Amino acid sequence: MVQLVDRLEETGFLGCLILQHNHLGSQVPNIIDIRRTVTEACRFYTELKSLGAPLGHLDFGGGLGIDYTGEKRSNENSVNYTVDEYCSNIIEAVGYAMDEAGIEHPIIVTESGRFVVALSSMLVFDVLDATLYDVVQKPTPRENDHHMLTDLLAVEGYLKPERLQECFNDAVFYRDEMRALFRRGQLDLRQMGRAERAFWHVLSLIAKVARSNGIIGELEEQLGSFVDYYHCNFSLFQSLPDVWAIDQIHPVMPLQRMDEEPTRRAILTDITCDSDGKIKHFVLEDGVENSLPVHDLKDDENYLIGVFFVGAYQETLGDLHNLFGDANVVTVSLTDDGGYQIEHETEGDSIAEVLSYVEYDPQDIMVAFRKTVERAVRRGEVNLDERKILMSAYKDSLAGYTYFE
Ligand SMILES: Cc1ncc(COP(=O)(O)O)c(C=O)c1O
Repeated sequence: MVQLVDRLEETGFLGCLILQHNHLGSQVPNIIDIRRTVTEACRFYTELKSLGAPLGHLDFGGGLGIDYTGEKRSNENSVNYTVDEYCSNIIEAVGYAMDEAGIEHPIIVTESGRFVVALSSMLVFDVLDATLYDVVQKPTPRENDHHMLTDLLAVEGYLKPERLQECFNDAVFYRDEMRALFRRGQLDLRQMGRAERAFWHVLSLIAKVARSNGIIGELEEQLGSFVDYYHCNFSLFQSLPDVWAIDQIHPVMPLQRMDEEPTRRAILTDITCDSDGKIKHFVLEDGVENSLPVHDLKDDENYLIGVFFVGAYQETLGDLHNLFGDANVVTVSLTDDGGYQIEHETEGDSIAEVLSYVEYDPQDIMVAFRKTVERAVRRGEVNLDERKILMSAYKDSLAGYTYFE
């Protein structure tokens, strides 16, 4: 900075140095860090002034954070201050520093991005299917069952609230022993399948007893991983990349049946083939947990889930992983009478658009497919009616959405 000031002075441009810019980083969780760095920035400002720079603007960049979890604490998904405190801390620190140095108060500039936009956007997706951990049917005991399987099934007989941990330990032990036997070739695939089913059956009973008796502590943590998987119509990498990249936590909740207590707990998986494509941390009333309370799914209901505060960075950082494109966007404004108005709708990427982003020409693809179908027609594998159906299905598919419709 000193070299820069000297250079500006030598070249007659020092009069241009009218703004000092600082940026501490995004989502600063602790107000003390803000006050400390503002004070430090002021030291540079007053020193630069004394070197002759005609500074008049002090820019503090971004950093004003969002309390994603509502915890009001200094951690990466929360902040320990309000916007009013943020402002008063900056104004106060600048005021003291300038008065002490006898310098005129500067015009303060901020570049808050996240705080301005995060709250204005939410992601909505539907649940397509679920893998329920507790629907396995208890295998009926058979005479030739391995004794470990018989022992595993017997756990149910001594399952009581006061013996939960013991039951859990036994179930895991017998299941692991049977897996070891399977690996060594001492248990066949059918027996192994029955063992796994017996394990899940016992586990679901243990979880039921634990939850209905409000058991917490270590067992709760162990059982925490036994939850449902709700398979949802979105791509984490396209729509919530920070959840994957920096373990960002967003408020998430089901958007219907609000007067009905959710009875299940789930992790939300996306439809990419990536095992990282899931939301597995949720902020609930008592803090951050590993599963989200959800309702059981009904055949005749489109079960929707909303992810909130996604206005900052998510859509722009999102990428085309697994070729899932931009999602449909609808802009909604609230009206003075408490209602809402749809401002505009933007359709998400079509399959053809996404393919063209990765250098495949949809026209060429169509031509190649047509040739394949023509060959099949010539060989008599496809008749003319089928040819028509195939061509129009392929065309519709290219023009369709990259998510399930
Ligand atoms: C120079 C600069 N200004 C402003 C911002 C916006 O920050 P935020 O979204 O935390 O307000 C950034 C983002 O990192 C930045 O690099």
